Amino acid sequence: MTTVKLVTLVLMIHVLISVCSGQYNRCCGRLTQKQGVIQSPNYPGPFETPVFCEWVIQAPPKLKIVLYLTQYYLKGFFHVYEFDHYTNKDEWIGEQKLATVNCEDEIWTIVSYKPFVVLRFAVQEMGNIHLRVLDHLMDVYGFNITYEMVSKHEVNNKWTCSAFDCSYLGNCYASADYSEYKCHCFPNFSGEECEYGPHCNPMTEKNMCQNNGSCRYIYGDHVNICQCVPGYLGSKCEQKINGIHPSG
Ligand SMILES: *[C@@H]1O[C@H](CO)[C@@H](O)[C@H](O)[C@H]1NC(C)=O
Ligand SMILES: *[C@@H]1O[C@H](CO)[C@@H](O)[C@H](O)[C@H]1NC(C)=O
Ligand SMILES: *[C@@H]1O[C@H](CO)[C@@H](O)[C@H](O)[C@H]1NC(C)=O
Repeated sequence: MTTVKLVTLVLMIHVLISVCSGQYNRCCGRLTQKQGVIQSPNYPGPFETPVFCEWVIQAPPKLKIVLYLTQYYLKGFFHVYEFDHYTNKDEWIGEQKLATVNCEDEIWTIVSYKPFVVLRFAVQEMGNIHLRVLDHLMDVYGFNITYEMVSKHEVNNKWTCSAFDCSYLGNCYASADYSEYKCHCFPNFSGEECEYGPHCNPMTEKNMCQNNGSCRYIYGDHVNICQCVPGYLGSKCEQKINGIHPSG
């Protein structure tokens, strides 16, 4: 970690602490900057339970708020609301629930046109609520996600990535200025989506698929799949379909 990053991090933590009241243990804040990171306590390690966090993102009138679930490993427990006005839990106007996010639903972007987005993260006890990445090798708890405020007229959302886009074999990180998102693959995995690894890699000519099928990892290090060329079938493209010409 560079000194600049470290200083930014320390400043960020300081800002979060200084706006948090007693009931939230460090995981809260009112975010008014155009972009930022929101993280579960002790990410990527386990957080202490019970935990209750609340972040309020506040946008000026002409901007919408976009959340990118870049690193999100929870099966629920994370709720997103929008408001016309929000002071605190007891003082607000126009509440609308946008989502309860479950990593299995594969929702990776949430957009709000209202000026206040409130994120609540509440877990009573640690059960089977997190996801295991890089099968058998690494457990990740909670989330480390980003948000930005952009013009309401902007039509397309920025391309960002997620654990799913990185085949659960890498981390999706924003660049320092949040302009770009990329998969940073775990050791021994590569490719834009971390889709290549020890048993499937065009660079080393490792391919478990037959008949010119192309391989890739899809959901951790144990699941690789074959995409067959027309005319072939089977988990390894080992089967020729009768009557269909391979180039058809
Ligand atoms: C959290 O996300 C930010 C933005 O993508 C990234 O720069 C940072 O390295 C992440 N932190 C961890 C611990 O993964
Ligand atoms: C990467 O692959 C090499 C060669 O197979 C192996 O020795 C090494 O332990 C692997 N690294 C990780 C982090 O799995
Ligand atoms: C696989 O590709 C090579 C080179 O393009 C080609 O010569 C060969 O016939 C192909 N095999 C099959 C089974 O399609």
